[in-house]
Amino acid sequence: MQYKHKVAGYLVPSLEGMEEAAIAGMLEYPPNPDMGDLSLPCFKLSKVLRKAPQAIAEDLKAKLEQADWLEKVEAVSGYCNLYLKKDSFVQDQLSSVLSMRQQFGSQNLGQGRTIVIDYSSPNIAKPFHVGHLRTTIIGNALYKIFSFLGYNVVRVNHLGDWGTQFGKLIVAYKEWGQAETIEQEGISELLRLYVKFHDEAETHPELEDRARGWFVKLEQGDEEATRLWKWFVEISLNEFNKIYDLLGVSFDSYAGESFYNDKMAAVVQELKDKQLLEEDDGAMLVRLDDYNMPPALIIKKDGGTLYHTRDITAALYRKNTYDFEKAIYVVDAGQSLHFKQTFKVIELMGYDWAEDLVHVAFGKVSLEGAKLSTRKGNVVMLEDLLTQSIAKIREIIESKNPDMENKDEVARQVGVGAIIFNDLSTNRIKDIVFSWEEALNFDGETGPYVQYTQARCCSVLRKANDGQSTELPDGGASFDASLLLNEEAYAAAKQIALFTETVEQAMVKMEPSIISRYLVDLAQSFNRFYHNCPILVDDEEQRKARLALVKSVQITLQNGLALIGLESPEKI
Ligand code: ARG
Repeated sequence: MQYKHKVAGYLVPSLEGMEEAAIAGMLEYPPNPDMGDLSLPCFKLSKVLRKAPQAIAEDLKAKLEQADWLEKVEAVSGYCNLYLKKDSFVQDQLSSVLSMRQQFGSQNLGQGRTIVIDYSSPNIAKPFHVGHLRTTIIGNALYKIFSFLGYNVVRVNHLGDWGTQFGKLIVAYKEWGQAETIEQEGISELLRLYVKFHDEAETHPELEDRARGWFVKLEQGDEEATRLWKWFVEISLNEFNKIYDLLGVSFDSYAGESFYNDKMAAVVQELKDKQLLEEDDGAMLVRLDDYNMPPALIIKKDGGTLYHTRDITAALYRKNTYDFEKAIYVVDAGQSLHFKQTFKVIELMGYDWAEDLVHVAFGKVSLEGAKLSTRKGNVVMLEDLLTQSIAKIREIIESKNPDMENKDEVARQVGVGAIIFNDLSTNRIKDIVFSWEEALNFDGETGPYVQYTQARCCSVLRKANDGQSTELPDGGASFDASLLLNEEAYAAAKQIALFTETVEQAMVKMEPSIISRYLVDLAQSFNRFYHNCPILVDDEEQRKARLALVKSVQITLQNGLALIGLESPEKI
């Protein structure tokens, strides 16, 4: 039960013309507990009610004093401060976690409406760089969050699998490449050939013509060109899939840029018919001067299409195919202009749903101490990043807990979790500097810390069950919440109560870091309780109550971790 809604619902009859959601939105959590558990700043109502804030606070106090789930109500300097009846509050919260389980925190806000998320979207035969790691992690978290809140989510990997670079790659392969080396080395070899092409083309410009020729062949469906292109795609996807497997990420559609080849002509025609296309020195573009943007290039001088052409076509296709409520593009902030232009062109075409297209931008990552080798290709580096993280966690486990079973599995869960969590630890738009020490710290505000706290809950529960299970002996059917009113227990229960609205906030702001920060707070709050309140005490009732809290924290941590793409090992 979300108490903001409970209070708001209770006040609706007294606040004529105001919606429950609006009232809930005005309620605040006071910065310190002396000012109540919830507070309504009544100055926000004085315009509508034409009354002084303090008078409103007094009126609402009189009304709220009748609620049997409130301990006390105060009207102070225009604020109406509410003190919850602690035991019924704690009872309510924990009971709802213990009955909802994996569903705790979910809501049916989406009612099955569709959201398309375009994320990851790496370029074939090019490095899967750290930027792609970020879009993959953020996109995957958004997918989980939207699904948890009742949306039907379509996950699209808009592969960069088309463009003149494939002509260059074919020429380079024919000149200097070997099939076996490509099979063995994968993308790094394709990248080497691509770089070599550029070096050689400086002194042998005729290579460029040959490359153009091969790309034209590819566009015309030439058998050899298509076979080679498909092979490059396959080699690249093999490598991308290794990273996706490690991260536990998958997609519903891999319709990349090439998918739109036969769909662009109709869109170009539509742009012409709508008189949006203008010729400029042989090229075709849509002018956006009125919106203070450079023009969007649609057709090149040589007749070829561009990134914009494909994105406009893709958006139209997605709207027709999925009838989305919103289409999200998780792409680095460097492409902001590209998306602003794309969305504007779609709006100019007369599609009012252009306003449902959202660019979810994120900042850069730099890697402290890790050397990027362009020659090798960052792909290798990224896989290294994950495998090194796993190896480091493996060492830590070996030294702390050498007798543990399935060390490899746990090292993978925690090692990968550390990288994901680190990525989601600050607002997405901020640049991040990756530091091994920070990411792998079991005590800092990291993934391993939260996962470790979750495992600690499991361990207490296991001890309570003679090592047999992590469930509550009676499934949590009965416990006396009045035994959980000491400072630490109550604080942890209050933290649990914030989970549902935290998930909702993360969705509204499309900001998974809101959940990561919440998880650190909950873990810290639990650890204060754990250090101050012995759980497996002799007093049967006390023990039962504390275990109910431990189980509730465990479920909440597990649900939150899952939403941002982390697993919850029972033992670390
Ligand atoms: N392939 C692009 C890149 O690596 C990202 C594509 C993002 N999605 C899109 N619909 N443009 O930069």
